[in-house]
Amino acid sequence: MRLLVIFACVVAALAQELPLAEECDAEKCKLPDCRCSGTDIPGGFEAHRIPQFVLLTFDDAVTVSNIETYRSLLGERKNFNKCQVGATFFVSHEYTDYRLLNELYSNGYEIAMHSISHQSQDYFRNADKELLRKEIADQKTIITNFGAIPAASIQGVRMPFLQMAGNASFEIMKEAGLKYDLSMPTTQFDYPGMWPYTLDYASTQDCISGPCPSASFPGLWAIPMIAWTDLDKYKCAMVDACFSTPADDDTEGWFRFILQNFERHYLGNRAPFGFYVHEGPVRTRPGLRAALVRFMDMLSTMNDVALVTASELLDWVQNPVSLADYLQKPCREVTLGRRCRSVTCVGLPSNHTTELLNMNNCLRCPRVYPWLGNPLGE
Ligand SMILES: *[C@@H]1O[C@H](CO)[C@@H](O)[C@H](O)[C@H]1NC(C)=O
Ligand SMILES: *[C@@H]1O[C@H](CO)[C@@H](O)[C@H](O)[C@H]1NC(C)=O
Repeated sequence: MRLLVIFACVVAALAQELPLAEECDAEKCKLPDCRCSGTDIPGGFEAHRIPQFVLLTFDDAVTVSNIETYRSLLGERKNFNKCQVGATFFVSHEYTDYRLLNELYSNGYEIAMHSISHQSQDYFRNADKELLRKEIADQKTIITNFGAIPAASIQGVRMPFLQMAGNASFEIMKEAGLKYDLSMPTTQFDYPGMWPYTLDYASTQDCISGPCPSASFPGLWAIPMIAWTDLDKYKCAMVDACFSTPADDDTEGWFRFILQNFERHYLGNRAPFGFYVHEGPVRTRPGLRAALVRFMDMLSTMNDVALVTASELLDWVQNPVSLADYLQKPCREVTLGRRCRSVTCVGLPSNHTTELLNMNNCLRCPRVYPWLGNPLGE
């Protein structure tokens, strides 16, 4: 009897405890599916022999008021190799127009997740698995159904407020078949910059907004958000979170500011350079917007730079090739989504607000506004 009780306890403990991530052993942890955290260049290349990858990401809802910025910034823009540039959208659910999300996806941009409710930072710091299942796994259900976007194309997560929730978000990512997190800033590994790595083994990255994961999650990737340095030498993970910046209308100043940050990567170990921002500041600060356009124009003339989506970046990290070989590769395929059968839904009731909400989408009008625990709005 006593043995049985002990046995039951051990089984219960095993079911609860995740395996602790151990110190990384580069002999055992090899590409394409495992990489130790570090600043070494994947494939062992010298920096000038690989492309400098640049990531442009936008967070939050995709709406009729911000789609114009996305269309005009990205439009027909190409990299040096004539392939369309990439951008990644970390979408939060409330107010998102799923027809516009489908448009972004169909035009070749990457759609990733940023939660359903995007409520307070404390809420996400303390979020457990059950809650994150509703915020993240269910959001994938919303996006695939209402946005008519293939599940396989949805791979990434950025936690709201860049607030980590320990192991929980990674447990849910595994469950939901997701591949990477792009929420963890590093100020310690900005020069040289830390390359993306997997969570098979313990990470050496600094943890800015903990609790960070400490269990082992084989095959899940972390793309560190390498901090920028502002004009007073403070570090910032997102462009619009930098405190000391050029004035809103100072295009020249903003361009120099962007270049200074870019050059730490380009002239360093070429770790991915992130331009992580929200649409609002780009729209309302003319200097920032004009400088971003000028910066992207400049990138498209450089044969050793590529503006790509986060999953394209990971494709290269998993199978690194030289710049010369990269330039020979065909462009990523833009697999057109199921075309959107446009549905306009107005005045849907919801439990989280007394406001009636609209939800344009590609599926049908749900009975109620989709929300936590009811992703299909049934
Ligand atoms: C994550 O999992 C590891 C291994 O089971 C555990 O030691 C750690 O306390 C967990 N972290 C949190 C914040 O729960
Ligand atoms: C609110 O929640 C109740 C109980 O869970 C449910 O029956 C009702 O349909 C919900 N209403 C809306 C508008 O979501």
